[in-house]
Amino acid sequence: MATASGEFPYAKVLVTGGAGFIGSRVVPRLEALGVRQVVVDNLYVNLPLPDARDGVVPIEADIRDGAAMRAIIAEHKPEAILHLAAVHHIPTCEREPHLAFDVNVMGTQTLLDAASEGGIRDIVFTSSGAVYQWKDGPLTEAATPIGATDVYSITKLSGEYQVAGWAGRTGGRAHIGRLFNTIGTGDPNGHLIPDLLSQLTAGEGPVTVKLGNTKPKRDYIHTDDVADAFVALLAGLKRGPDVDYFNICTGKELSVAELVQLMGDLLRVDVTIESDPTRFRKIDRLQQLGAPEKILAERGWQAQIPVRQALARIIRDLGHTVHEDDVLKAA
Ligand SMILES: NC(=O)c1ccc[n+]([C@@H]2O[C@H](COP(=O)([O-])OP(=O)(O)OC[C@H]3O[C@@H](n4cnc5c(N)ncnc54)[C@H](O)[C@@H]3O)[C@@H](O)[C@H]2O)c1
Repeated sequence: MATASGEFPYAKVLVTGGAGFIGSRVVPRLEALGVRQVVVDNLYVNLPLPDARDGVVPIEADIRDGAAMRAIIAEHKPEAILHLAAVHHIPTCEREPHLAFDVNVMGTQTLLDAASEGGIRDIVFTSSGAVYQWKDGPLTEAATPIGATDVYSITKLSGEYQVAGWAGRTGGRAHIGRLFNTIGTGDPNGHLIPDLLSQLTAGEGPVTVKLGNTKPKRDYIHTDDVADAFVALLAGLKRGPDVDYFNICTGKELSVAELVQLMGDLLRVDVTIESDPTRFRKIDRLQQLGAPEKILAERGWQAQIPVRQALARIIRDLGHTVHEDDVLKAA
């Protein structure tokens, strides 16, 4: 169980939300390191659990079900938790705040209670770059004030406090990954890129893409990089402060307009963008750029996939042609 940074500290890990967009990429990485896993998911986003095999035990269960969580921990005795399960789709969180609080806040608490009862002391929690106040980036773990504004980020900020408080009370360790905008193929919550792709490939010739506000800039990161980052956080969880915070981001930002232009380049489609104010979100921060230096310095992780290459991969995975020289440029 060796990693680039040394011996992996856990023989068995509980991964919640392990069927999801990111979880499904983390599980094979941990498996390749020889880490045994119990993978829990309630199939809320309809992605499949991994197949049962030596070292991977998939269990359909809800993190809000305390009896189920206690029984799973008692039977399988994981040494640490990677907690990815959440309601993540932001419009759903706004529309159904009770569901978002129930899963993201109460579900996290139920999991933490079961963990303390089962003797688990170590957790990596998945938070979001959205917990930072609306400042110009780069947003840093040490200096940028936090301040959540929408239902989703409020639940994530609560989760940060919950795991930190739990670590303090139990003598445990909680490391928190503040994740920025993840892109990749098969995201059940991310419709922007598939929607853009269908507009860009609808016909022959130049295309006019209709969007809401095209100005907001985001730090887009590929899901394979994100999965590696979570493995690095687990690998380093026994090091440093008991409670610690790490951005998972690239440190580069792109506006929606730039993203569309880049996709047009990769598809060799001439694009005109029309911004329609009636489609603007009520709450939409103009910038969310992360500072990636801490996780590089302390965990040796940095994003490897430039956004151009990430987009090229997604476009190809969705069955469209990306011209070879463009892919090479994107590599
Ligand atoms: N994708 C991003 O851009 C992004 C950005 C910041 C933070 N995050 C966080 O990363 C984590 C993983 O996100 P993702 O993109 O893989 O989302 P996802 O929706 O694909 O994965 C979440 C998984 O949790 C499961 N789940 C939901 N409710 C559950 C419950 N009550 N019990 C058990 N399982 C449950 C879902 O079925 C799903 O498989 C989430 O906590 C999310 O909030 C994601």
